[in-house]
Amino acid sequence: RIAWLHARKGTLPAEQRIVLRRAGIIDPTSIEDYILNDGYIALGKVLTSMTPEEVIEEVKKSGLRGRGGAGFPTGTKWGFVAREKSDKKYIICNADESEPGTFKDRLILEGDPHSMIEAMAIAGYAVGADEGYIYVRGEYLLAQERLKKAIKDAHEMGFLGKNIFGTDFNFEIHIHAGAGAYICGEETALIESIEGKRGQPRSRPPYPTTFGLWGKPTVINNVETLANIPPIINNGADWYRSFGTPSSPGTKVYTILGNVNVTGLIEVPMGITLREVIAIYAKGMKNGSNFKLAQTGGSSGSIIPASLQDTPMDFDSYAKAGVSLGSGALLICNEDTCVVDLAKVLLNFFRVESCGKCNPCRIGTQRAWEMLDKISKGQASLSDLDKLAELSENLYMLSNCGLGQTAGTPLRDILNYFRAEVEAHIRLKICPAGVCKMEEMI
Ligand code: NAI
Ligand code: SF4
Repeated sequence: RIAWLHARKGTLPAEQRIVLRRAGIIDPTSIEDYILNDGYIALGKVLTSMTPEEVIEEVKKSGLRGRGGAGFPTGTKWGFVAREKSDKKYIICNADESEPGTFKDRLILEGDPHSMIEAMAIAGYAVGADEGYIYVRGEYLLAQERLKKAIKDAHEMGFLGKNIFGTDFNFEIHIHAGAGAYICGEETALIESIEGKRGQPRSRPPYPTTFGLWGKPTVINNVETLANIPPIINNGADWYRSFGTPSSPGTKVYTILGNVNVTGLIEVPMGITLREVIAIYAKGMKNGSNFKLAQTGGSSGSIIPASLQDTPMDFDSYAKAGVSLGSGALLICNEDTCVVDLAKVLLNFFRVESCGKCNPCRIGTQRAWEMLDKISKGQASLSDLDKLAELSENLYMLSNCGLGQTAGTPLRDILNYFRAEVEAHIRLKICPAGVCKMEEMI
């Protein structure tokens, strides 16, 4: 590791704050502080000197991709909504951050609430929407309080409401608090929830860009995605592209958790590696232990084995390696972690949070958890692993939404990367990590 650090000396990427640049620096309850730190300049710029088409073009040129986990190009999404002919359109900020271990959006909402208002108003101008909703996770009480104050202050100063910056652009924002259901972070379940219905995902297509809130074309973006908009407008797409990789420009906010010396939250350019995150920002593994795997994205990402720790962390490099970045939670685990136990914890989460609308997910997550439970108790046979692989495939192919589709990922990953360890539970009736107390179970 020391040799590697020497080799990389001078080329190590520094933490680069774009979306968190004001968090912890300004008083988030003060609109004056926000204005003194470049606040509402981007909104003024687009309203007074750019056409909606130019705004969308700039966002497209920046290469910004959705930071909720999926990495869909933001400018393309805005373009889809802009081209819709409709009497009404909406902007929704998805602030229902519910991935286990993810708290990146919370820091933006609590530390820089006006950035959401400014970005949503810019999106509204670009696509022709005059109303927006911020759907905030129910437990984020401080974020809700700060957003409410920010909306009130922005109204009083004329950054929301009618004739913003003396133009004919009007924009209103409402806050809608979630009630603790993970599935309401799925965009169409979120929309149903705002509409006062049970929070269950719709079938897509149609996507929200054509059939969104109240059936109207809707832009729905994650908090971190939106927080990138004002800096892109202020500094230009080329500036933004100077960070990150060509296909995943900009930065990414990660939460670091697990068996490392320093846990917390970092914002770094896209494309750095897991090895760098652990060595530099997490200051190494705890008590000199060895890195075994990282679970990305809370629950809906991938299990990254040590063999992939030098893969650049960007959407395409990860996709090419057959894994996903998820929303940015990095649970870093040492050799004391049992992969069967980890998958069991994840499947337990999915079976509890499944909304129950479709059979493959409702029943599949339960069956997968039962099989993992059998493996962890030394009661499974090798043929159960074939069933587990088939179940993983069925969850992915047949589930209606992202929850069920990603529920099979931990199964696939432990069978792909840690098959010998899983088989040891069956063939030898031992847990190599010493986590599953098999002798008590058999
Ligand atoms: P997706 O890839 O289906 O869609 C991504 C976005 O692009 C959506 O807004 C969708 O409406 C839009 N889109 C895709 N194709 C489109 C088209 N042809 N026309 C118009 N719009 C289109 O991904 P999905 O299922 O929306 O989200 C899954 C991701 O969410 C996963 O990567 C997961 O990591 C992440 N996630 C994040 C959570 C968090 O707390 N941040 C919680 C749970 C999952
Ligand atoms: Fe509900 Fe799961 Fe089906 Fe999604 S995949 S609609 S969470 S049952």
